[in-house]
Amino acid sequence: MRATAVAHANIALVKYWGKRDDALLLPEAGSLSIALDRLVTTTTVDLNAEQDSLRIDGRPAAGEELRRARMVLDAAGVVLRARIESRNDFPTAAGLASSASGFAALAVAACAAAGQQRTDRELSALARLGSGSAARSVPGGWAVWEDDGAAQVASPDHLALRLVVALCGSGRKPVGSREGMKRSRETSPYHTVWIDQCRRDLPEALELLRARDLPGLGALAERNAMRMHADALAADPPLLYWAPATVGCLDAVRSLREQGTGAWATIDAGPHVVALCAPNHAARVEAALRSVPGVLDVLVCAPAGGARLLELRGHNT
Ligand code: PMV
Repeated sequence: MRATAVAHANIALVKYWGKRDDALLLPEAGSLSIALDRLVTTTTVDLNAEQDSLRIDGRPAAGEELRRARMVLDAAGVVLRARIESRNDFPTAAGLASSASGFAALAVAACAAAGQQRTDRELSALARLGSGSAARSVPGGWAVWEDDGAAQVASPDHLALRLVVALCGSGRKPVGSREGMKRSRETSPYHTVWIDQCRRDLPEALELLRARDLPGLGALAERNAMRMHADALAADPPLLYWAPATVGCLDAVRSLREQGTGAWATIDAGPHVVALCAPNHAARVEAALRSVPGVLDVLVCAPAGGARLLELRGHNT
């Protein structure tokens, strides 16, 4: 009746920014991501509870987060009330995709606690109902999400890679991704061209990944992120997720490249910058990002695998 699971956050190289179905959280275009080893959420689901409750990093979470968690449980057919405890080892809801690892770990823990045997694909489709990008944290590694659930298309060690995460702000972002995507789709004049671009970017990115072409993939990821933010900036009212340090990091990444260090930047719906580089360049990229004014911390991550069950109690399995 009680299970604990872990999942990693992921960063998209071809982003998901726009839904074709707001209720079912289905994307307008496919996305590609890689899971990050140092960004982990651990979630315990206890089905021996009188009422649903959710704590994130020790703090009770009610309202929207609890409602979404219940949605995932309902979709899984888990009717028992659940006590959910979730712990992140990174800043919650500041654009570091804690919702992705959180809902992936929740789907795995809840189904295990209920004694269900489910495929990764089913777990991914369930996690998606909490947060779209969570679909990709279930399979982990290099994951593609186009329909109901995501799948791993290459293992974490397929490409020698580091992801250098520069924390460029703290606290919650002013406009969440759900609202941001909706506003972009409804009001940004660039939205349809953005979606068309993603439909071209995904097959190209997969080809570059297959060929282990890091410079090609890095450049594509940076262009894709800039275009996502162009779409968001063109919304009404405009969505500006960046902080001054975000621009400083983009500048630092560009000058690293000018000096011959291969590094490419991507940014989700928040201020943080994730620089992609080869493992032997990670220390140089980390030092460059640390020296940017306003950068609070820098984490060097390696690619990680999928969500997994850590502990199960109360079943005879
Ligand atoms: O999963 P959501 O609803 O938080 O949306 C994630 C959106 C981005 O992080 C900006 C892009 C992505 O593909 O992860």
